[in-house]
Amino acid sequence: MLNDKKVLYSGMQATGNLTLGNYLGALKNWVNLNEEYECFWGVMDMHSITVRQEPAEFRKRARNLLILYIAAGLDPVKNCLYFQSHVSAHAELSWILGCFTYMGELNRMTQFKDKAAKHSDNINAGLYTYPVLMAADILLYQADYVPVGKDQKQHLEITRDIAERINGIYGDVFTIPEPYFGKAGAKIMSLQDPSKKMSKSDENINGSIYLTDDPDTIVRKCKRAVTDSDSQVRYSEDKPGISNLLDIYTACSGKTIPEAEKEFEGKGYGEFKLAVAEEVIRVLKPMQEEFERLSRDKAYIDGIIKENDAKAAYFANKTLRKVRRKIGFTDIK
Ligand code: TRP
Repeated sequence: MLNDKKVLYSGMQATGNLTLGNYLGALKNWVNLNEEYECFWGVMDMHSITVRQEPAEFRKRARNLLILYIAAGLDPVKNCLYFQSHVSAHAELSWILGCFTYMGELNRMTQFKDKAAKHSDNINAGLYTYPVLMAADILLYQADYVPVGKDQKQHLEITRDIAERINGIYGDVFTIPEPYFGKAGAKIMSLQDPSKKMSKSDENINGSIYLTDDPDTIVRKCKRAVTDSDSQVRYSEDKPGISNLLDIYTACSGKTIPEAEKEFEGKGYGEFKLAVAEEVIRVLKPMQEEFERLSRDKAYIDGIIKENDAKAAYFANKTLRKVRRKIGFTDIK
């Protein structure tokens, strides 16, 4: 990099609407990382087409995700926010890396097995080589760190294996990325089934609070949240619904769990659920307003896209040229 900052790389798929879980668990904690790291946040639209997308809706979602990054506080000048599909080096490096990845390795990927089971009518090669494209994303930027959740750990491990294999053959080609364990984000579970993570692909829309939900919807979803037959607002393993609501409440309000438990001592679940909804509404409001404002400013967003695509391409192409040279492709004249 131009400065001495270490590089941090991550991104989200442009599939489904972002949830409160994505915000509290990831986005919110990314906002200040650019002070310490050179940060790249991709809109992973190439990964999204491993499952069928409706073109008009997909286009809109991908753009909305980039706008949400900004609305959530990622500064588009200090961070590189860009679309994966706008930087062709991702596809090119992905092909090369695929030639250094064994089918046995890909066969072991638990996410492939899960997704293949879920989309049994469309088990395509892209779904299978998904981890190779992800390795290309990370290695193109010579990333030192990748903030990943548990579900992506295996993908980061295969990325490291591929990078080490290539470095072993050709010398120093790639930086070996490490998982980034920052301040842990809150892990938010489904409001309807607190044993499952809140997910943007959940079929039960009442299980998730979307970042674009209006206040009435948020109140309704919180009121309907699954709890237990007890009536104490207390954090406990045998009270997963209430514990999840406490996690949401404290993540939004900044209060601690004991403080929150004390606050709702002797009060019923109804009152607590309303207070949770109020906190969520309060936290989401400025982001929603900013999202609306930015969505109307087409010229500004288009400018941001152009600048950041170019910045991403500059770094990605630098790595791609190095890889081409190392593996012995003839020069492009
Ligand atoms: N697979 C990631 C997810 O679904 C998204 C992703 C694609 C990603 N490429 C990446 C995350 C590179 C980190 C780094 O969450």
